[in-house]
Amino acid sequence: MVVAKPRLEISGGRRLHGELRVSGAKNSALVLMAACLLTTDNLRLRNVPPLTDITAMGEILAALGVGVVRSGDAIDLDGGHITQAAPPYELVNSLRASFFCIGPLLARMGMAQVPLPGGCQIGSRPVVEHVKGLKALGAQVTIEHGVVTAVVPGRDHRLTGGHIHLDCPSVGATETLMMAAALADGETTIENAAQEPEVVDLANLLIAMGARIRGAGTPTITIDGVRTLHGADYAVIPDRIEAGTFLLAAAITRSTLRVAPVIPEHLGAVLTKLEDAGCRLTPDGEGVILSTERIRALDLTTQPFPGFPTDLQAPFMSLLATAEGTSFIVENIFENRLQHVAELQRMGASIRMNGNTACVEGVARLSGAPVHGTDLRASAAMVLAGLAADGVTTVRGLEYLDRGYADLEGKLNAVGASIRRLSDDA
Ligand code: EPZ
Repeated sequence: MVVAKPRLEISGGRRLHGELRVSGAKNSALVLMAACLLTTDNLRLRNVPPLTDITAMGEILAALGVGVVRSGDAIDLDGGHITQAAPPYELVNSLRASFFCIGPLLARMGMAQVPLPGGCQIGSRPVVEHVKGLKALGAQVTIEHGVVTAVVPGRDHRLTGGHIHLDCPSVGATETLMMAAALADGETTIENAAQEPEVVDLANLLIAMGARIRGAGTPTITIDGVRTLHGADYAVIPDRIEAGTFLLAAAITRSTLRVAPVIPEHLGAVLTKLEDAGCRLTPDGEGVILSTERIRALDLTTQPFPGFPTDLQAPFMSLLATAEGTSFIVENIFENRLQHVAELQRMGASIRMNGNTACVEGVARLSGAPVHGTDLRASAAMVLAGLAADGVTTVRGLEYLDRGYADLEGKLNAVGASIRRLSDDA
């Protein structure tokens, strides 16, 4: 039987008005959930977004023996009775972020066995830095048949603080190693650490749990290991990528919209580029009001934070496809994160590719077409393009979209968009 794949049907060309509310950050909540493995106390996380990835992470933790109770935007995680140190293969395969369990499990149990998180549409997604760092903390790590097995030798199976210099400022490696080092014996320094807001959010949670961490948000993080960590009640930061996507929805429809909450420091490079493109941004309490009539071309290069985030490269390209002039967009972070170009070309965008650089010549109007989102952010980019295009755009690939955006069509329809979610047999 063919499973009906849902799709969004977007009638474009409509102005938006009102306010878009930003949920808690997916890329923070996922790693904060894994931190529950570091304590036998209850960990309460608030402002947790209702996403399929969050549900999947909850299932993985429950399979390890964690008590998982969701109530509204809060989730209670009780890591007091972990029954095993190996999340089940079939669950891990559905969620790359499950690899965040390896550091805490190793620090708590002295061993961990986690399947390698495979590559995905945007790249090979290696975990070399994660493994190198765990070895620097005294773990013996082997990779066989697609499974990473880490063991801490010695009587008390406790990791030992050490010096780690990351070859690249990997977000996941920085987060994994910060969690592992939190319970290690002695001091750990992580050089060339990732500086993303989600790294800082994790450090703040660990500190609330009793960890001793300095320098999160800078290239050098120092962790003084402690014997135990206690529970906490902690609110996840707003999702800067969802906020950026909403600001782009206002810009691409030439609308005036309020987006809230927004932490400007989390979106510095993005706000600067939106202003360079001709948007007026007005801080308004915990939010930002964006308005614009025209969009100018500009050049964009993705970089680790505080540079322009790779997760907003595709959505921003949709905007520049409708700009006046020619833009150059360079994707430096992932090796295969320009697949949305072909989809935008189907909508009439004029884009030429050269390696990891896209030359985007703005057109007056995109035209609605059936398109496919090839990853989470490419799917969002297709929705944005559909909002601006003449006629109807059909977006498939919602299995990706729903991982990072909770009820995107509902939120956009509430501010004047016209989007229907249909299944293929409709
Ligand atoms: C996190 O992925 C985010 N995911 C990604 O968001 C985000 O795009 C990425 O950081 C970069 O900001 C989560 O937080 C769950 P990396 P992560 O390790 O940790 C290379 C989204 O759309 N690298 O910083 O996997 C790697 O290949 C997702 O929400 C190595 O070469 O990213 C990539 O090219 C997509 N060796 C670059 O670094 C390593 O050992 C950035 O990867 C590790 C990474």
